[in-house]
Amino acid sequence: MASCCASLYELPIVEQLLGGSFHPGGVALTRRLASAALISPDSKVLDVACGSGSSARVIAAEFGASVIGCDFSAFSLERAKSTAPAEASSSSPTFVRAAAERLPFESGSFDVAICECSVCLFESRDLVLEQIRRVLRPGGRIGISDFFLSRPAPENLTGLLSRVLCVGGAVSLADYRQSLTEAGFEFIRIREANQALLDMSRRVRHKMRSLTATGLAELPDAWGDPMSVLLDLEQFISSGGAGYMLAVGRRP
Ligand SMILES: C[S@@+](CC[C@H](N)C(=O)[O-])C[C@H]1O[C@@H](n2cnc3c(N)ncnc32)[C@H](O)[C@@H]1O
Repeated sequence: MASCCASLYELPIVEQLLGGSFHPGGVALTRRLASAALISPDSKVLDVACGSGSSARVIAAEFGASVIGCDFSAFSLERAKSTAPAEASSSSPTFVRAAAERLPFESGSFDVAICECSVCLFESRDLVLEQIRRVLRPGGRIGISDFFLSRPAPENLTGLLSRVLCVGGAVSLADYRQSLTEAGFEFIRIREANQALLDMSRRVRHKMRSLTATGLAELPDAWGDPMSVLLDLEQFISSGGAGYMLAVGRRP
């Protein structure tokens, strides 16, 4: 499952549509998440499902933290390792290949773990949250950002493209809170960032239109009719069916 899901993000079309940061709100929302999780220059930070490492680089450069990024995709990690730090003076994050369900780190070894736009992709959300809790020290913080659903997604938003855009596996805010609580986190705070999601879905639709008009889009057959999916998605988000959230919690 990890390999299937990770390989979706290796398609050239995904980067063409999303740019280097594979979550709504880009680095601006990463800064917000890092601040909410109280990342400081003393923090040892794990970025779970770090993709090509844009958030890890920003946290190392702007917060001065020591950062390890892990992801299942060898392809994304190669991209991460070959990209220079966000600022010449900052230390480079380290990147490690690992499935989020089996984090190869000692218990209690991180102050903060973040996971952006990925919890909704994992087959076992509970297992990954349990792993994250294990690698955090007591008093350590988790910071996640993800899609949520306020009502069930319509049929047209359950295919592969919706999965790439994270709608496929999203759950409600109450479900995220419950999963975090059951994984043993306390002082959970959840904030909505819905405009970032709406902006991203509009940007992706415009980009898709110009790529298809110029014949530059290499679209997998399984994506069906992407323009109709993207229009439905935008409408679903703007009518309050889905949103994007930041959640932080503390390991007791
Ligand atoms: C939507 S992208 C988000 C990437 C990055 N967090 C960001 O915001 O730019 C999802 C990432 O999750 C990774 N992934 C999916 N399933 C995984 C798993 N089970 N373990 C580790 N990484 C996984 C994919 O390879 C991909 O890089």
